Amino acid sequence: MLTAYDAVTASIVEEAGVDVILVGDSMGNAVLGHDDTLPVTVDEVASRVGAVARGTDEALVVADMPFLSFGAAEAESVRNCGRMLKEEGANAVKLESGPHTIELTERLSDLGVPVMAHLGLTPQSVNQTGYTQQAGDREEAAEILELAREHEAAGAFALVLEHVPANLAAQVTDALDIPTIGIGAGGDCDGQVLVFTDVVGLADRSPPFAKQFGDVRGEVESAVGDYVDAVASGSFPADAHANTDDELDDLY
Ligand code: KIV
Repeated sequence: MLTAYDAVTASIVEEAGVDVILVGDSMGNAVLGHDDTLPVTVDEVASRVGAVARGTDEALVVADMPFLSFGAAEAESVRNCGRMLKEEGANAVKLESGPHTIELTERLSDLGVPVMAHLGLTPQSVNQTGYTQQAGDREEAAEILELAREHEAAGAFALVLEHVPANLAAQVTDALDIPTIGIGAGGDCDGQVLVFTDVVGLADRSPPFAKQFGDVRGEVESAVGDYVDAVASGSFPADAHANTDDELDDLY
């Protein structure tokens, strides 16, 4: 699983072999210029889910529900989540999970909205937890294991485990029938997820558990720099990039 926030990127990500594309609320810091994910709106996620769905054929498209778009009132939560499938072409939603999302996970699953749960570090709670590794003691680890079980029982079809000790993620993976997808949770999860801009080398800063697999920022800087130089020197556009119509000579 990898994030994408637009049709072009999503098509590349799918072609490269990624099975699940998460339209993450990480768009807040990854591409929308915010410091964190909290300001991301339902409209912003919806617009980008639509783009990703249009850019892909086979990949499972998961809409990440933004801060406070779910969990306060059930009807509003269902409406916001349902919109991602009904109007934008998502196949599922992801909810940053906790005790407050068990009933909602059940309700959405009953209504035909597949739910991916998300435990461990949940960045929408940054004001309570910071971005540090979660499950710092046995009690917190046991709570995550219990919440994982409860979300599976409520109907979640998969579970993201973010920034937790690898041996906890391994035990959660063993305890569940649904697949776990790890990010900063070691190699024993059933799948892995990262943020696109971290993977390709577009991000200003990345979390310690991310790995950069390319230098797209360097490539883009070089291409745009060459374009600027070519325009400044007059070598672009060349004759090959323009069309002349003889009948239009002598107008002035
Ligand atoms: O928003 C996001 O991209 C996420 C992943 C990092 C799991 O929630």
